[in-house]
Amino acid sequence: MSSVAAASPYLQIQNVVKDFGGGAVAVDNVSIDIAKGEIFALLGSSGCGKTTLLRMLAGFETPTSGRIVLNGQDLGGMAPHVRPINMMFQSYALFPHLSVWDNIAFGLRREGLPKDAIAARVEAMLKLVQLSKFAKRKPHQLSGGQQQRVALARSLAKKPQLLLLDEPLGALDKKLREETQIELVNIIEEVGVTCVMVTHDQEEAMTMASRIAVMSEGRFLQVGAPAEIYETPANRFVADFIGNVNLMDGALTCDNPDHVIIDSADCRHYVGHGITGTEGMAVTVALRPEKIHLTRSKPEDPFNTACGVIQDLAYFGSFTVYRIKLSSGAMLKVSVSNVQRHRDDELSWGDEVWAHWSRNAHVVLTH
Ligand SMILES: Nc1ncnc2c1ncn2[C@@H]1O[C@H](COP(=O)(O)OP(=O)(O)O)[C@@H](O)[C@H]1O
Ligand SMILES: [Mg+2]
Repeated sequence: MSSVAAASPYLQIQNVVKDFGGGAVAVDNVSIDIAKGEIFALLGSSGCGKTTLLRMLAGFETPTSGRIVLNGQDLGGMAPHVRPINMMFQSYALFPHLSVWDNIAFGLRREGLPKDAIAARVEAMLKLVQLSKFAKRKPHQLSGGQQQRVALARSLAKKPQLLLLDEPLGALDKKLREETQIELVNIIEEVGVTCVMVTHDQEEAMTMASRIAVMSEGRFLQVGAPAEIYETPANRFVADFIGNVNLMDGALTCDNPDHVIIDSADCRHYVGHGITGTEGMAVTVALRPEKIHLTRSKPEDPFNTACGVIQDLAYFGSFTVYRIKLSSGAMLKVSVSNVQRHRDDELSWGDEVWAHWSRNAHVVLTH
């Protein structure tokens, strides 16, 4: 994935700002290079500026300042319909009175392509999204997932250089979403189109994207491959936003090049690598719930362990999440994979347990 990031930039977003006036800046000095063929996700909660950035790429909004360059061409001042870009909206915006076939053909007809060229392209698109059998149907005669694929076929029909997807699966229910995510990636990769997508759903970003930009208040807080963002979040916001995490405030008490010791309320952390810091400095330890083990007996290791009482547990089938109340009153979330159908010593409410984790399980955050 880093090879994708290192390849020559295809889409360049340079110091782009969008200020609608009236206080907060919607997009605040964003810069990023995106490689050809990447699926790049803008991830963040509602109102953080995702759609505004996407609309500037499409040409529906003009940046207050900054530059957008696609394949060497500065898009500044270029109207949306002449940009080699297609944006697929959340609502799909299919024409209800037109058949699937005519929906896909619509943009090609407007371009004035010859009839047989249009037919060939529509057939190819129908095949791509596996809807050849449904060509004559109207959108309301299709399931949500099928409508979504028609919208995608229509977006790809004109062979855009850049495909923009705004919450592409927002209208689908959870199970269908998950299936469609993989399908969508397969289609995008088959066509080879570069794609920027917007989502507020971290799982969707993780499954679909080659790289993710985590956004907050108009800014990029971190850009990286999904595993990079999950395993090495750059700050508290990203650690907390992506997946589940235990955040423990502490102080750096011993600073060595090959390890550091951090003291927090319930635990003495031994971290098996150095950090940039000074003794006494306030830090936050981030620890993912699945990196913690639970035992009834006290671990031999004096580090990276904490004792507490199971406050509640939630069974999710493939794993169980325990919330453990530590002596300071803080809660520790631990997720345990259910590899056996029955554990001999089932842990339950009110049990005293020891949590333990390895020397490389944590991420130390300094901001
Ligand atoms: N046309 C507009 N005029 C004024 N403010 C806008 C306009 N469009 C978006 N905003 C504001 O810009 C911010 C970012 O919005 P948006 O890009 O839609 O966020 P997201 O897609 O991440 O939910 C919000 O505070 C929103 O109210
Ligand atoms: Mg939006």
